[in-house]
Amino acid sequence: MLPQEIIRKKRDGAELSALEIGDVIAGLTNGQVTDAQAAAFAMAVFFRGMTMPERVFLTRYMMLSGSQLDWSDSPGPVLDKHSTGGIGDNVSLMLAPAVAACGGYVPMISGRGLGHTGGTLDKLDSIPGYISQPDIALFRKVVREAGAAIIGQTSDLAPADKKLYSIRDVTATVESIPLITASILSKKLAAGLQGLVMDVKTGSGAFMPTLEGSRELAKSLADVATGAGLPTTALITDMDEPLASAAGNAVEVMNAIEYLTGAHRDPRLHQVVLALGADMLLIGGLVATLEEGFAKLEQAISSGAAADHFQRMVTALGGPSDLMENAEKHLPKANTILPILANREGVVHAIATREIGLGVVALGGGRTRAEDGIDHGVGFTKLLAVGASVSNDTPLGFVHARNASDAEAAAVLIRQAYSLGDGAPLIRPLIHDRFQGKGI
Ligand code: URA
Repeated sequence: MLPQEIIRKKRDGAELSALEIGDVIAGLTNGQVTDAQAAAFAMAVFFRGMTMPERVFLTRYMMLSGSQLDWSDSPGPVLDKHSTGGIGDNVSLMLAPAVAACGGYVPMISGRGLGHTGGTLDKLDSIPGYISQPDIALFRKVVREAGAAIIGQTSDLAPADKKLYSIRDVTATVESIPLITASILSKKLAAGLQGLVMDVKTGSGAFMPTLEGSRELAKSLADVATGAGLPTTALITDMDEPLASAAGNAVEVMNAIEYLTGAHRDPRLHQVVLALGADMLLIGGLVATLEEGFAKLEQAISSGAAADHFQRMVTALGGPSDLMENAEKHLPKANTILPILANREGVVHAIATREIGLGVVALGGGRTRAEDGIDHGVGFTKLLAVGASVSNDTPLGFVHARNASDAEAAAVLIRQAYSLGDGAPLIRPLIHDRFQGKGI
């Protein structure tokens, strides 16, 4: 069928067949569907939506547009977690080795920072020598030997997504739940996983700020992935304040190392690591209940086994073999580190979390254009959580900047992002909801 006839059908609100969706994706990959037609298709889906079967077909055809990894020789279940992105969201750095220490195998393919949200790959690139784009043979070897490898996107997995995403990005069609679902899941299906846990963030720092929108996305991701053959559970977790007390790149790696070695563990972050990890172990058949999953992960983290897996992954991917003991020596540092004083008394009632992420970008720790380089040393540490009491000279956090004027500008931004009040604030739940994929 001609692409324009398929676009017309979707424009008029009809359901597309598997064949029609397959034609659009094949045409996108081989150049027979023009960028203009792909943009019109995306806009038609944006306004008309897609039924669950259409979403599954779109996801599967996008997955089939490139190569797929095969882990059939894996000694244990091949599991992954994917987050829709947040601030101080360094969960992957502790979760992947913790799940590995419990018998899972985690080939985690991560992205760079997008807009105000940080990217796991940028964080790992702050480790000197770390090869974040290894070839497939090294990737497989590290997953097998360390139980986890966190690397960057390879161009041969779901190339149709790369093409369609770059068109959506410039045609105001990113914010479509069917298109987001197919985009994320086509890459996860191509990675050959056996189980997936989605961390859908909600709140002022999330890409989907409302709980209603996050629920709709979580349910779509869990059901479409499961329908496409990848058992998936989605948790909706809070992003109305930074998850870790650090936001940036090297500072979040340091926070993860402190977490894994037991030097410092942010409590909200720990709860999210346990909740996502327990569901990963359950999907992988490594535990029979979520409670058992929580206990197994607590043991893997407190015994140092998770830290050991993290170090093995870093060493195998070319990073320093003494990173856990000498992180201070290896990680890049900013020239200027200053406290951001509250300048008044009160209790932290709310944090405009997106502004903290934009603060990292303004310091040079994130990108405004895809081709920009970043400064891995800058960011924020010791950020106070909602509910903390402060006086005039209490630091709301510390800024790590390239120079004093950047630090001053960031301090102003952080003071504005923190709303101080009197009395106890409203504390939001950390885990808002959980959807086990039912398929379609
Ligand atoms: N991340 C993706 O990979 N795709 C989207 O469409 C949105 C976020």
